[in-house]
Amino acid sequence: MNIQFDEKNRVFKLDTEHTSYVMAVVDNEGFLGHVYYGAKISDTDVAYLLRTDENPMVPSKNNRDRSSFLDTFPMEYPGNGVGDYRESVIAVLDKNGHSAVQFFYRSHQIFDGKKKIPGLPASFAKETECQTLEIVTEDPVLGLEAVLVYTVFAGSDVITRSVRVTNHEAETIALTKVMSASFDMDAEDYEMLTLHGSWARERQIEQRPVGYGKQSVSSVRGESSHQEHPFVALVSKDATEDQGKVYGVHFVYSGNFLAQVEKNQFDTLRVMMGIHPQDFCWELKQNETFYAPETVLVFSGNGLGGMTRNLHDFYRSHMIRSPYKNKKRPILINNWEATYFDFNEEKILTIAKKAKEAGVELFVLDDGWFGARNDDYRGLGDWYVNLEKLPDGISGLSKKVEELGLKFGLWVELEMVNKDSDLYRAHPDWIISAPNRFESHARHQNVLDFSRNEVVDYIYEMIAKVIRESSISYIKWDMNRYMSEPYSKGSAPCEQGKVMHKYILGVYDLYTRLTTEFPHILFESCASGGARFDPAMLYFAPQTWCSDDTDASERTKIQYGTSYVYPIVSMGSHVSAVPNHQMHRITPIETRANVAYFGTFGYELDLNLLSDAEIETVKKQIAFMKEHRELIQMDGDFYRLLSPFEGNETAWMVVSSDKTQAVAAFYQRLNKVNASWLRLKLDGLDANTKYEVSCDMAPVTSYDAKIAEAYGHKTEEDSVKTYQAYGDELMSAGIPIDREELNKKGGDFASLLYTLKKVDE
Ligand code: GLA
Repeated sequence: MNIQFDEKNRVFKLDTEHTSYVMAVVDNEGFLGHVYYGAKISDTDVAYLLRTDENPMVPSKNNRDRSSFLDTFPMEYPGNGVGDYRESVIAVLDKNGHSAVQFFYRSHQIFDGKKKIPGLPASFAKETECQTLEIVTEDPVLGLEAVLVYTVFAGSDVITRSVRVTNHEAETIALTKVMSASFDMDAEDYEMLTLHGSWARERQIEQRPVGYGKQSVSSVRGESSHQEHPFVALVSKDATEDQGKVYGVHFVYSGNFLAQVEKNQFDTLRVMMGIHPQDFCWELKQNETFYAPETVLVFSGNGLGGMTRNLHDFYRSHMIRSPYKNKKRPILINNWEATYFDFNEEKILTIAKKAKEAGVELFVLDDGWFGARNDDYRGLGDWYVNLEKLPDGISGLSKKVEELGLKFGLWVELEMVNKDSDLYRAHPDWIISAPNRFESHARHQNVLDFSRNEVVDYIYEMIAKVIRESSISYIKWDMNRYMSEPYSKGSAPCEQGKVMHKYILGVYDLYTRLTTEFPHILFESCASGGARFDPAMLYFAPQTWCSDDTDASERTKIQYGTSYVYPIVSMGSHVSAVPNHQMHRITPIETRANVAYFGTFGYELDLNLLSDAEIETVKKQIAFMKEHRELIQMDGDFYRLLSPFEGNETAWMVVSSDKTQAVAAFYQRLNKVNASWLRLKLDGLDANTKYEVSCDMAPVTSYDAKIAEAYGHKTEEDSVKTYQAYGDELMSAGIPIDREELNKKGGDFASLLYTLKKVDE
């Protein structure tokens, strides 16, 4: 039993393999308090841990001075306006115009498995893999019920939470805030770790002390956003990759969010996650229910690496849906950076043919194939092929690409419209825009009003027709601007507080319809790179284009930060041309691949423009990925070794679950002269296993033969360095990194790739 209810002490105890989460019901009214979350404890008789005293100023016992009790009690789902002055998780506007709400325990049920959340993506598991606790709480004054839902995924050390709120009264009530999860804990020495960024600079890492008052990250852009991420972790000050306490809170939602930590006068922390209350107002008529999205909670006593591997395991097993859950991802080529809008069928087929010869498996046709889309001023919304560019249509092109021996994929941006489009001319009221205000555009486009069913229906029919008529194996679903002037012309003034959430429900609805009708299609989500990389998207689209920045060195940062919470199999990562289109930087083609291997892997350039030597390198890269794809994407555990946020070097590795194989990579930014020795210390290996370590020491393809001669470097291709070492040596003493090797690997932006295999002794 992973969920226990100790009736005598009225204690709920939720256990994963290494963690416990404990709540207790106190007083006759039935306050639900948060007792403990952290490393596993064995006893259920722990209600004594619950702080029920009033604050020290008041010389009285619990219940005599209710407001001081409420202001200190660690509340599991804190209400509003009744004496707890910390942030509430829920607020209402009742018939009297009052915002107060307060929930009390009424009943509960425990069952195997997990229910779906209507309209929302959420984690899933077989009945044998998880257990759920539903705690029914009630505000007797309002006749409002909140069911707090907890599911325990014991194997992944994850507990998910969500909430559903039902109005049982005849009077309509408006919910003005419904957060999905909150828990109160002792402050100790935690710091707050968040992921921030911008376009082409997603998921950088920030760690800051938790000060008194409220600190939060959020989005009100209508997307989970480049800027801040729906994730917050509390980490002990001494936490590293391998040790220290880490509490991670991650939101399964793609729209506006608020992740907040509040430190109060008694040094307790209130941690919460949910839909951002700004502009949110959801009216509930009698017997209507509002479903708040799911939050993922994870605790690791083994530092950030432990949190990461728990989340990777959880998302790979319980969020990414089949049939791609257990499938290696196709090695693709995408024409965006190769052609931008300037292509025709011949050009596309030339790129595809060369890619096939190199071993690529999937060709992806990016933006520009539809309507009058010859630049980004026009065409969005017109999902029918541009016959001037592609005279045989997508249907003809997809068949020709398949005849070359490649699968065919297509880019779409279904939530958007250009004003210069047939769709906008026919339906000018279908965009999100407020009466009498300027209709802001970004990248010359406006947001279609997906809060309206008729808009979603229309787009569904248009794109489903293209897919039905063609042979499509993959879709890149893009979304290239955030929302402004959030207002729907399809909703009454009093319903406008629903628009932002209904928009996202519309997106999920379209995803559901398309993934249901076309279950064989692999979806990759994208939002100007990684503005909508979130767990909810993973439910529909098993991979996400990580960033529009394809520079290998920048990518070490972006992918390093992203790896905190997302499995590397979900990170879209490509080798692109040099000079890089975003950074104007030249990096060796080997380094570009060494970074892209730790993701879905693909190319985003015209291989016809490479030299013969580079093409040979590309063929070897593709062969390498095919050989190691199962380990990297499906089976392996990811370990971060050196952080690009702390120095010139980055390193990470993947170790097979049986610890018999591994792939490790080391990257440097700028080269150093006469520098100190470096030993790269590995992680995750079996200490007593002997491994054969191999590293290809051939100079990079771009290495100048004259320099090689001057320095006496051999340029032959098969100079693989191999030696044997035990796991403990490799983890404690490390792999010596030779400066000469880095020079041969290109100097600046050099990288080394190691493969490890168990030696049978
Ligand atoms: C976005 C994506 C890119 C590309 C372009 C096409 O920026 O992130 O990968 O698809 O749109 O317009």
